[in-house]
Amino acid sequence: MTLVTDLTSRKADTSAALIDPLVDRWSPRAFDPNAVVEPEALRTILEAARWAPSANNSQPWRFVVAHRGTPEFTTTHDAMLGFNQAWADSAAVLIVNVAEIADAEGKTRPWARYDLGQAVAHLTVQAQHEGLHTHQMGGFDAAKLHDAFGLADNLEVVSVTAIGVLGDVDSLPDVLREREVAPRERKTLDELVLAGA
Ligand SMILES: Cc1cc2nc3c(=O)[nH]c(=O)nc-3n(C[C@H](O)[C@H](O)[C@H](O)COP(=O)(O)O)c2cc1C
Repeated sequence: MTLVTDLTSRKADTSAALIDPLVDRWSPRAFDPNAVVEPEALRTILEAARWAPSANNSQPWRFVVAHRGTPEFTTTHDAMLGFNQAWADSAAVLIVNVAEIADAEGKTRPWARYDLGQAVAHLTVQAQHEGLHTHQMGGFDAAKLHDAFGLADNLEVVSVTAIGVLGDVDSLPDVLREREVAPRERKTLDELVLAGA
């Protein structure tokens, strides 16, 4: 089968002018298995997460940063489910995104997962600005990671973000290569805005 492997058209087809990192951001599965994320770039994207807004400025986001080639990376990759196992090992870094769902006194933080998601969104946009790509995942065994990293009871593993440099789409298995080049789709603004548009 002949597949389109030109990824230059992955930019978002937006209905209004957006800043470049938002237009350029997409979630590849083909990462360069030899590329690394420089420490300064990693610090910059974590700093972007740090400055996200949060309920009551509670900052309930925590991160386990696992560099390819380390035991932490192997642990994180081993917890991946299904086809995530097949591609996530090429990422330079896997970040385990953790929400502090209760404070030190045991009081629930109702917005913790929301705040974590917002911090991760900041991180992905900054990573794109740094010339990197990100791919978030929900397909993994969260309990396994919670145990493996010895996380406290008030911490919940919510998602994992793969970060790296765009790789060769032909390195992917057929089924993932098809997804990699499939048209990017979004609901229209009319569908999303319930009232007041
Ligand atoms: C919370 C969350 C969980 C996701 N889980 C997975 C996953 O397990 N595996 C995967 O390949 N992609 C996963 N994705 C990526 C989405 O499929 C992707 O963001 C979506 O299709 C939109 O594509 P785009 O990011 O390229 O615009 C996840 C994204 C988010 C935000």
